[in-house]
Amino acid sequence: MEKIAVMGGGSWGSALANLLVDNHKEVLVYDNDQATVDEINQFHTNKSKLGDNLLSKEIKATRSLEEALNFSSLIVLAVPTSVTRIVLSNIKKIIKDKKLFVNVAKGLELNTNDRVSEIVNDEIPGQYIEGFVSLTGPSHAEEVIVRNLTSIVAASENLEHAKLVQEIFSNESYFRVYTSCDLIGAELGGSLKNIYAIASGMLDGLGYGINAKSALITRGLLEMKRITVLLGGLEETLNGLVGVGDLIVTCMSKFSRNYSAGLLIGEGDDLKTSLSKMTMVVEGVKTCKTAYHLSKKLGIETPIIDAVYDVLFNEIEPRVVIKNLMARELKSEH
Ligand SMILES: NC(=O)c1ccc[n+]([C@@H]2O[C@H](COP(=O)([O-])OP(=O)(O)OC[C@H]3O[C@@H](n4cnc5c(N)ncnc54)[C@H](O)[C@@H]3O)[C@@H](O)[C@H]2O)c1
Repeated sequence: MEKIAVMGGGSWGSALANLLVDNHKEVLVYDNDQATVDEINQFHTNKSKLGDNLLSKEIKATRSLEEALNFSSLIVLAVPTSVTRIVLSNIKKIIKDKKLFVNVAKGLELNTNDRVSEIVNDEIPGQYIEGFVSLTGPSHAEEVIVRNLTSIVAASENLEHAKLVQEIFSNESYFRVYTSCDLIGAELGGSLKNIYAIASGMLDGLGYGINAKSALITRGLLEMKRITVLLGGLEETLNGLVGVGDLIVTCMSKFSRNYSAGLLIGEGDDLKTSLSKMTMVVEGVKTCKTAYHLSKKLGIETPIIDAVYDVLFNEIEPRVVIKNLMARELKSEH
C-alpha cells in the first residue's frame, strides 16, 4: 500500500486524507496543533473545520514533522501559504531523501510574490526534490468530505509527475483529476481567484445582484489572464478548471471563506473584524496585497484587484470603490 504524508490537518488536508484512504492509501497527517492531532486520532473528526463529518479511522495524525517526513516520499503541502516557508525550512533541517512535493494550498507569498513551487525551490536543496505538482481547481473540502463530485487539475512541468498524482488522487466515484504541464498558470489561477471571491462576497453584502457578479467573474478572469500570461503561464489554463472553474465555485459558494469574509465586509465589518469571525485561513487577503504590488511592478491594469486592495488596506468604503469602478472611462471590451 502506498504511503502519503499530508502536512496540515485543516479543512483541506483532512478532506484529502480521507479521499486518499478511500483510494487505499496509508495516510499520516502532520499538524503543529496538538488539539487537531488528538481530535483526528481519538475522535476521527475535525469539528471546527469540517463539522460533524467523520474522518476515516485509518487516518493517523502526528505533531512530529520528522515522523511525517520519514513516512513517505510523497509530501502533500496543505498548510496556509503564509506558513509554507516555515514548514519547508523545518523540513530542510531533517530531510534525508528525495521527495515529490504536491502543493494543495492556494496563495502567493507576501513580500516575495513567490508561488509555492518557488518557495520549495528556495528552501529545499535540489538533491532532495524529486519534483513538484500543484493540485488545484474548484474543490471545497466540505463537498469532498461528503464525496460530492469534484474535478481538479494536477499541474507539473514534468508530465510523469502530474500523471502519478492524477493516479493517486483520482477516485472513480467522486474525484476526477486532469493533468496539465502549465505549472505557472495553475499556481497563479488557484491563488488569484481568491481575491475575486472576496469581491463577490462584498457585492452580496452590499445587496447587488447576479448581473454584477457575472461581470466581476468575467472581468476578474481577464485580470488573472493578464498577470498569468506576463509571468509565463498559459491563457488556456485559465479557461479551464483552475481559472473559470475555481472562480465560479469560489465566487458563488457559501463554503468559500474568502467569499464569507467579503460578505461580512460588504455588510459593514472592517477587515480585522471580519477575519476574527473566520475559523479557517482566508488566503485572498494576503494574495490581494501581493497581486496589487505585483500588478504595479508588471505595469498591468487590474482595476478589480486595486478596488479590493483599497477596501482591505486603505479602508475605503466598498460602495465608494464600486462607484469609482463604474465611473472609469468607457472602453471596448477586448
Ligand atoms: N478548505 C478548502 O476547501 C480548500 C480547498 C482547496 C484549497 N485550499 C487551500 O488549502 C490551504 C489550507 O486551507 P485549509 O482550508 O485546510 O486551512 P485551515 O485553516 O482549515 O487549516 C490549516 C491547518 O494548518 C495547520 N498549520 C498552521 N500552521 C502550521 C505550521 N506552521 N505547521 C503545521 N501545521 C500548521 C493548522 O493547525 C490547521 O490545521 C489554503 O491555501 C487553502 O486556500 C482549501
